[in-house]
Order: sequence, then structure tokens, then C-alpha cells
Amino acid sequence: MILAPSLLAADFSRLGEQARGVEADADWLHVDVMDYHFVPNLTIGLPVVRSLRPATSLPLDCHLMIADPRRWAVDYAEAGARNVSFHVEACDDPVALAKDLRAAGALAGLAIDRDTPVEPYLPLLENFDTLLIMTIKAGFGGQEFLPHLLDKVRTARRHASSGHLSLRIEVDGGIADDTIAAAAEAGADAFVAGTAVFGADDPAEAVRRLRRHARDAQGSAPVTDIS
Ligand code: DX5
Ligand code: ZN
Repeated sequence: MILAPSLLAADFSRLGEQARGVEADADWLHVDVMDYHFVPNLTIGLPVVRSLRPATSLPLDCHLMIADPRRWAVDYAEAGARNVSFHVEACDDPVALAKDLRAAGALAGLAIDRDTPVEPYLPLLENFDTLLIMTIKAGFGGQEFLPHLLDKVRTARRHASSGHLSLRIEVDGGIADDTIAAAAEAGADAFVAGTAVFGADDPAEAVRRLRRHARDAQGSAPVTDIS
């Protein structure tokens, strides 16, 4: 199971310090890259990822909410990101980009926004390590979790199980104490949380609590091949 606090909800004037504050409890550090084109928001890009890489021992999970990811995604892999997810809505050849990311030494992630169905992309998943399913509309933190989007998680988990794919299914958006169990039961095994972690008085304790909720839920989930 992966718990990935999202820096989007952190204090941007002290990103290294905020990252180190969750190092002992988190698995990945989620970095939301937004370009003001694919989404209406603007956050951070390569220079910040390059500076963050030596500032924390946590693997970086870069979520690219950008137009034309084929132009940029491999640079994030080369900057040392462990996982690089790009949006299927922004890419005309997702499989080619997945291959490029893996060749650059990163895990390849396919991200699916709120209004995009997952079914057309199931045959592509054997080329990916991670499937990131948005549980909000991509672009901003602090939005309300949309439980009906977990149907996509169930569909993808069934597909992965029946095809024996070792696919990580990551949920992103509105993940908190009262929503993470539903996502885990649906078959997610990686959880991004921004507000619920960096908006808490004690971010490290917030990560530990989220993990407990997810573990409890996984224990009662019908799927068996999630780690
Ligand atoms: C939004 C980002 C999320 C964001 C989630 O587009 O992809 O990673 O940080 O924030 P919360 O956890 O506050 O919903
Ligand atoms: Zn994200």
C-alpha cells in the first residue's frame, strides 16, 4: 500500500521541510504539476522537482496535469521521479510515452480525469505500472470526494486481476479519514492526500491514521491481489 501526501496542500515556502516531516510515515511524495493550460491552475515544474529530489528520501510521484506530456514527461523521469503519471486526455500516444518513461528509469502512470471513462483504456494498462484515477476534477486541492468515480477503480481492479497485471491503482482527490476506506474497498492500493495531510496539525500522524483506515478496509475487501 502506498500513502502519498500531496505537496499541493503544503507551505510552498518550505517544501523540503514539509516533505521531511512525513518521510518516516509516507511511501511516496505526490507532486502536482499544473501548467495553466491542461488545467486552469498553475503550480510547479521541473526546477522545483530537481530541487526536491535531493531534499527528501521519499520517492517522488509526479502527477503531470499538463498539455503535451510527450514534450516534458521524460524530463521528470530524468530528474529522478519514481513514478510519472500523465493524463490520457492530453496524450495522443500513451503507450509510446509509457515506454519512454520506463526506458528513462521511472514507473509509468496513466491518469484519468473525472469525466473520462476507463473502459477504452483497459487494453493499454499492460504497458503501465500505475493507473491514477481522479476522484475529483483535476486542477485544485480541497474539493469534495466523488464516490461514484470509484466504479472506475472497481472496473480497473477487476481487469487487472483477471489479466494478472501487477497494476497499482492510485486514487487522487478528497482522500481523507472518511473516504479512504471506500477507495481501498474498491481496489485502490495507492492513496494521494493533500488537505487531509498538510492541512492537519500533525501531518505525520494524519498519514498514520489514513494508513490504518485503508488497512482496516483492505482487510474486509473482496479483492485479494492488492498489496
Ligand atoms: C488535484 C491534485 C491532487 C490534490 C488533491 O488536481 O491532483 O493531488 O493535491 O488534494 P486533496 O487531497 O486536498 O483533495
Ligand atoms: Zn495529484
